[in-house]
Amino acid sequence: MRSSSILLTVSAVVGAIAHHVELPAGVPRNIDEFRVKHPYKRSEGCGTRPIVKIRASANDTDDVADDFLEGLHKANNGGTLYLPKDDLYVIGKPLDLTFLDDVQIHWDGEVKFTNDTPYWQEHAFAHPFQNSLMFWKWGGRDVRIYGEGVLNGNGQRWWNEFAGLEILDPSNTYLRPILFYGENLTNFAMEGIHQKDSPCWTNFIVASKNVSFTDVMCTAESNNATALPKNSDFFDSLNIEDLTVERVWVNVGDDCFSPKSNATNVHVDTMYCNGTHGQSMGSLGQYSGEMSFVQDVVIENVWLLNGQHGARLKTWAGPDIGYGFIDNVTFRNFWQANNEYSAFIDSCYFNTANSANQINSSTCAEYPSKMNITNILFENFSGYTSGKYGMAVARLTCSTNPDAVCENIEFRNFTVKSPCGDDDDKPVILCDGIKGGIGMDCIPAASDEAKAALKKKCSVPLADIEPPF
Ligand SMILES: *[C@@H]1O[C@H](CO)[C@@H](O)[C@H](O)[C@H]1NC(C)=O
Ligand SMILES: *[C@@H]1O[C@H](CO)[C@@H](O)[C@H](O)[C@H]1NC(C)=O
Ligand SMILES: *[C@@H]1O[C@H](CO)[C@@H](O)[C@H](O)[C@H]1NC(C)=O
Ligand SMILES: *[C@@H]1O[C@H](CO)[C@@H](O)[C@H](O)[C@H]1NC(C)=O
Ligand SMILES: *[C@@H]1O[C@H](CO)[C@@H](O)[C@H](O)[C@H]1NC(C)=O
Ligand SMILES: *[C@@H]1O[C@H](CO)[C@@H](O)[C@H](O)[C@H]1NC(C)=O
Ligand SMILES: *[C@@H]1O[C@H](CO)[C@@H](O)[C@H](O)[C@H]1NC(C)=O
Ligand SMILES: *[C@@H]1O[C@H](CO)[C@@H](O)[C@H](O)[C@H]1NC(C)=O
Ligand SMILES: *[C@@H]1O[C@H](CO)[C@@H](O)[C@H](O)[C@H]1NC(C)=O
Ligand SMILES: *[C@@H]1O[C@H](CO)[C@@H](O)[C@H](O)[C@H]1NC(C)=O
Ligand SMILES: *[C@@H]1O[C@H](CO)[C@@H](O)[C@H](O)[C@H]1NC(C)=O
Repeated sequence: MRSSSILLTVSAVVGAIAHHVELPAGVPRNIDEFRVKHPYKRSEGCGTRPIVKIRASANDTDDVADDFLEGLHKANNGGTLYLPKDDLYVIGKPLDLTFLDDVQIHWDGEVKFTNDTPYWQEHAFAHPFQNSLMFWKWGGRDVRIYGEGVLNGNGQRWWNEFAGLEILDPSNTYLRPILFYGENLTNFAMEGIHQKDSPCWTNFIVASKNVSFTDVMCTAESNNATALPKNSDFFDSLNIEDLTVERVWVNVGDDCFSPKSNATNVHVDTMYCNGTHGQSMGSLGQYSGEMSFVQDVVIENVWLLNGQHGARLKTWAGPDIGYGFIDNVTFRNFWQANNEYSAFIDSCYFNTANSANQINSSTCAEYPSKMNITNILFENFSGYTSGKYGMAVARLTCSTNPDAVCENIEFRNFTVKSPCGDDDDKPVILCDGIKGGIGMDCIPAASDEAKAALKKKCSVPLADIEPPF
């Protein structure tokens, strides 16, 4: 029943783009419907843990950072810090929480960072990767954060002040903190929390093992049309092993999910991404001479609406880059509406528009990526694109470097449509530099057929999601 309604929907779009589009039945359209469909039920551990409570903030400027730190010290080694519903905890200074060992935080209240941007720029922790700042650092063993509370990055002022700048511009000096940073975490779980309005990336997890995010909601929504919540990725990592992301709602201004250098054994199941840049591997290979890899990844049951790309692999090209590989990645059961490319291998990163740092196609050809890309499966993709690339619904551009292999890239049951063209126009997939076929027709981007397909641009309205959930 479900599949026939998708097919009807898609043909309606192809025929007449003005029609609004139905999601497959039962897909939540906002965080309230997400909670209805995936209610957060906390699993009770056995035994009782001592409960620690701390003073809540009296108002928006009442900094309880010291109390928060002391509470975690008290709850550490077997206890639970309890933040009750309706209580606010304002954090106005950086916290080093890397001493944790067997601690839980029952988080039903709201933790909110102050928005004193000059203060944080001077005092926040720093990480060299892409010049990151962090409000705090979490680290240690057996750490569980659970509840229906809010972690609020208070990002509006940061976005307003950052407007017009680019994070990857080497001359940018306006740095913004990451909402949740973890380092050297072993056995970490975040469950149920609403992560809200991060100034920059939402989660950054480094050198950690056995990490999970379940039933989490992540939003970054600006009230200022000229100051978007830029770079507010839901998830980034370096050096991570055994990562699970399950049942997560994301509405942010950048990647929905994007592990970076050195990720092994990653499983994502059931994510709703609206307005994002997609499910991305990387970017990888940014730093000169550095080896990096992503391997053994399954990402399944994903709904991506109104964003940039769908499933994406991005590797850097240019004169000063690293090397490495992406191997064994499966993207399965993706439903998409109004995204640019539904599947995209981009071996000429970073090359987006409006950046001082972009590389052009001649530089990419001169200094191609040194990343191998092998054993990538795109399976059961459906829905429709935005029309930005005309009839082209996917693009796979491998490195032209003879030492960078790009093989066993496969499409199975791929039915993504374009909203453009006439009834007899067929969606096309663009492929360059892949060794062997992909299991479907696929044409070089420089061919006449591809150029004609790219020219048939059109647009669709925001995926307005009817009927009611
Ligand atoms: C193939 O795609 C159709 C249309 O999206 C879907 O209904 C069906 O479940 C898919 N089959 C498999 C085996 O993935
Ligand atoms: C906020 O609460 C603190 C602590 O109770 C108090 O000292 C301060 O005056 C309050 N500030 C405002 C603006 O109400
Ligand atoms: C990492 O965490 C472990 C506890 O899980 C601790 O023993 C070790 O000292 C930490 N390492 C660093 C570099 O902080
Ligand atoms: C909105 O953002 C712009 C920067 O693009 C800033 O100049 C303006 O003050 C912001 N508006 C408000 C109401 O904060
Ligand atoms: C991974 O962490 C979870 C808690 O988040 C724990 O229950 C599980 O036992 C850990 N797995 C391993 C292999 O240690
Ligand atoms: C989905 O994303 C679009 C485009 O960014 C935005 O206009 C819309 O409000 C978002 N909807 C929800 C429910 O977050
Ligand atoms: C990734 O792993 C490689 C090989 O072990 C190592 O050389 C590199 O420094 C790691 N990258 C990061 C960002 O730690
Ligand atoms: C590919 O990755 C998946 C997910 O981690 C894993 O289960 C599978 O064994 C890997 N396949 C190979 C050939 O390593
Ligand atoms: C890339 O693949 C080639 C051919 O299999 C291999 O020789 C080379 O070591 C690989 N590079 C990396 C970084 O794995
Ligand atoms: C294929 O994907 C669609 C849409 O995401 C989903 O409804 C369907 O169950 C998937 N098919 C299989 C066989 O998993
Ligand atoms: C591409 O970029 C390089 C380096 O910035 C520049 O020297 C070159 O002129 C550019 N080529 C084109 C065709 O724009």
